[in-house]
Amino acid sequence: MADRVALVTGASRGIGRGIAVALGAADWQVAVNYRGNEMAANQTVAAIQADGGTAHSFQADITISTDRARLIDQVMERYGRIDILVNNAGVAPSQRMDVLEVTVESYEQVMDTNLKGPFFLTQQVANMMIDLLRAGTIESPKIVNISSISAYASSPNRGEYCMSKAGMSMMTLLFADRLAEYGINVYEVRPGIIATDMTSTVTEKYDSLIAEGLTPIRRWGHPDDVAKAVVALAENYLPFSTGEVINVDGGFHFRRL
Ligand SMILES: NC(=O)c1ccc[n+]([C@@H]2O[C@H](COP(=O)([O-])OP(=O)(O)OC[C@H]3O[C@@H](n4cnc5c(N)ncnc54)[C@H](OP(=O)(O)O)[C@@H]3O)[C@@H](O)[C@H]2O)c1
Repeated sequence: MADRVALVTGASRGIGRGIAVALGAADWQVAVNYRGNEMAANQTVAAIQADGGTAHSFQADITISTDRARLIDQVMERYGRIDILVNNAGVAPSQRMDVLEVTVESYEQVMDTNLKGPFFLTQQVANMMIDLLRAGTIESPKIVNISSISAYASSPNRGEYCMSKAGMSMMTLLFADRLAEYGINVYEVRPGIIATDMTSTVTEKYDSLIAEGLTPIRRWGHPDDVAKAVVALAENYLPFSTGEVINVDGGFHFRRL
């Protein structure tokens, strides 16, 4: 089983790094994608190798069509297979702006990174997986989309982010529906408030909200919390589920009275 390959986008830092390291520890070869932070990507690779695993870093901006194609080519050239794609790369708006003020530039940057890029990367990887299945190279490939509680929780000061994640939820269902006949299960992992660079600018706000009981489990989530869910999916612990949402949010998602 040591030859299984995971492609994790945005694995240089944060949740993506946590997922890459956990998959590496579970004996997956890991393709560590990053956009610009080569040093951080190399640290992810080094952490996996230090644990006895196999990993390489692959620079590609998932918003750019030629980069997506090159990423897949390079991963295939190195490993000859992709067994799981984890669409993790994502950005928050560079500046939080009210929906009445948000600019076209911010909208496009967030939607291109969080939805359009993952959609077309998934389309290409799914077609590659179908070919690899037909060739008998891989057995039960999977696609995992890292969305957010923002897929359903409204934050009017970063509406484009919420819309991108809501779109990713439908993207999960569409690919789950279309790919079931090939035996490719597609899942959405929905993290809550996770301590990473992305949330480092709003630490105090979330510290108080969590202390006041925003989440039944009163603590920040960590990349490893998300990674454990992804490893469970990668290891086929939900074989008769597809289009499924896994909430990793300390219980944020349910109504309370
Ligand atoms: N943190 C949270 O509370 C939270 C909650 C729910 C969902 N999420 C989602 O979880 C995912 C990871 O978030 P995070 O908090 O770990 O973010 P992060 O710490 O800011 O890391 C973002 C990662 O995405 C990569 N990236 C960004 N744009 C890219 C692009 N165009 N092409 C390729 N890679 C790109 C970055 O690469 P470089 O290092 O090269 O820049 C980095 O590896 C995102 O989809 C985010 O929306 C996060």
